[in-house]
Amino acid sequence: MSTKKKLLVLTGGGDCPGLNAVIRGIVKRASQESDWSVIGSIEAFNGVLEDPMRIIDLTSETTAGIHVKGGTILKTTNKGNPVKFPRQLEDGSWTTIDRSEELIEKLKGIGVEAVINIGGDGSQRISQHLFEKGLNIVGVPKTIDNDLSATDFTFGFRTAVQIATDSFDKLVTTAESHHRVMIMEVMGRDAGWIALHTAIAGGAEICLIPEIPYDIDIVMERINERYEDGRGFVNIVVAEGAKSKDGKVTSEKSDVIGYGHERLGGVAFTLSRQLKERGCQADIRETVLGHIQRGGTPISFDRILATLFGVKAFEMVLENEFGKMASYKNNEITSVGLKEAISDYNLVDKNSFTVRAAKSTGISFGD
Ligand code: F6P
Repeated sequence: MSTKKKLLVLTGGGDCPGLNAVIRGIVKRASQESDWSVIGSIEAFNGVLEDPMRIIDLTSETTAGIHVKGGTILKTTNKGNPVKFPRQLEDGSWTTIDRSEELIEKLKGIGVEAVINIGGDGSQRISQHLFEKGLNIVGVPKTIDNDLSATDFTFGFRTAVQIATDSFDKLVTTAESHHRVMIMEVMGRDAGWIALHTAIAGGAEICLIPEIPYDIDIVMERINERYEDGRGFVNIVVAEGAKSKDGKVTSEKSDVIGYGHERLGGVAFTLSRQLKERGCQADIRETVLGHIQRGGTPISFDRILATLFGVKAFEMVLENEFGKMASYKNNEITSVGLKEAISDYNLVDKNSFTVRAAKSTGISFGD
């Protein structure tokens, strides 16, 4: 029987380019310590909670070269919260139960000494809950939305911006050829980082984000200007969580039991309708980028950041730095308490230099 200490790794929430690079970083660093072995739970904590468990060995061989691939070899889910696990009652209705004690017992049963949870704010809330119950757990931040305040950047964000910028550039040439208004919807439920960076990189005329509710008349003014000055085409980037001053976020209630959040999407069509109602004469087309932004190979920055987070997370385990999350602050890889990490969102500040600079280059935020 192996006498090695066992580390369990999992990925939770939506996927994100760079997850595999974190897993590989953890495993490579762990392989330098002869008394540790690494295993992975399939689909967040579901792999442990299910019977039989779905657990795989993670070795230098099984993780070789995976840093280049998108997605996660461990699979993921945003329906796997052990603290609020969905359970069907006899009358057919659904409730949630806390399975965290059971989870911790199962982990003890298979000899797990520490856990690394790679995930966004929802996943790190679960980490904090399990830490308070006595689990040795370390977090690694993940989100393409870049909305975690305890880290200056999350991996996946820059890849998403690159994908969105490449798409935006393509929409510019077709908008110009047809004298059209092109609306491109990107992800960003609470924070407009992807939209803001894409708008600056692509040179958009209009950028609408959740942090700055827009006035449709001001958006119309910017469109009219472009047609009056002879340019005759407009490119708009809108974050999925954007809303007009008097409107609501465009969303649809998910019918999936246990789904972690409200399902957004379709604001491009809402905006298109609002523009037509305001008398916009130009031809309008809508493009919703959706999950394309989360797929494919991570760009080099994200592979590097993710690898550094993986190595750091394992070293946090070695140093017994539990209840903390790896973080990138002021150009350094460091750690922060999970409690602090989940206490605040990183939102776009409308008075920031970046927003002012964007405005200086002609981008209207509809405010
Ligand atoms: O949290 C990241 C994110 O990309 C959000 O911007 C988006 O609303 C959400 O994930 C969509 O997740 P899914 O479709 O996987 O449930």
